[in-house]
Amino acid sequence: MLFTVFSLASALAWSPVSPLTPGACRAAPRCQPLRAAEEPFRSDELFDYFRRKKEVSVSLEKPLGAVLKEAGAAGGVCVEELLEEGSASTTGALKKNDRLLRVADADVSSSSLDDVMAILVDASSPVEIDLERNVIVKVVRKAPVLTYDGQTLEMQKGSIMRTAVVKNGLELYSGMAKLTNCGGTGSCSTCWVDVKEGAENLSPRTAVEEKKGAKRPPTYRMACQVLVNGDVTVETPPKK
Ligand code: FES
Repeated sequence: MLFTVFSLASALAWSPVSPLTPGACRAAPRCQPLRAAEEPFRSDELFDYFRRKKEVSVSLEKPLGAVLKEAGAAGGVCVEELLEEGSASTTGALKKNDRLLRVADADVSSSSLDDVMAILVDASSPVEIDLERNVIVKVVRKAPVLTYDGQTLEMQKGSIMRTAVVKNGLELYSGMAKLTNCGGTGSCSTCWVDVKEGAENLSPRTAVEEKKGAKRPPTYRMACQVLVNGDVTVETPPKK
């Protein structure tokens, strides 16, 4: 009996987890699995930002000083917290929410918290850990190309088509509309373009377009209403 108590105390002294009991770990909030991130979760003028996962291998001396918890739908366990005195914190090798995939060559990607703890306790130091980490990747934004009546313009992603056309000195209006157009407020209905390719790269129709374009071909869009997010080819519709 004395041996059992001593062994348990010794194990906790260099345990990779905090002195939390397994029950306390289960009660803790779970790591959130990441959503599939094909679309950027954030963008600025230069970059799109994506959430991705990558595998990382680390070798850590015991005690690790990492509090683990069950990883929920992702399976297995993940890091809930790092304790200051452990090697995980001092080396920076483990991060919060890292999900353990293998410990000392044992696949723990779907293991219970109890099983992972047992493997960590038995593993010799340093312990080899493969893990899955959530990272943010930034990708240079590709400037969309607008082909307008055969002329190509490179424009900032998400900008208004009318603004790009006018800024580049191309003629969007004809006749009196050159002088009397509404300036892009959506009231004059003189800025229609016929989308030949890349309609999927344009923002959805606005209420103004729905109303004013009800009797126009479905490929027509109002240049002052539409945002360009990718390559697109348009033509000026024949004037009546
Ligand atoms: S510029 Fe007037 S509606 Fe588009």
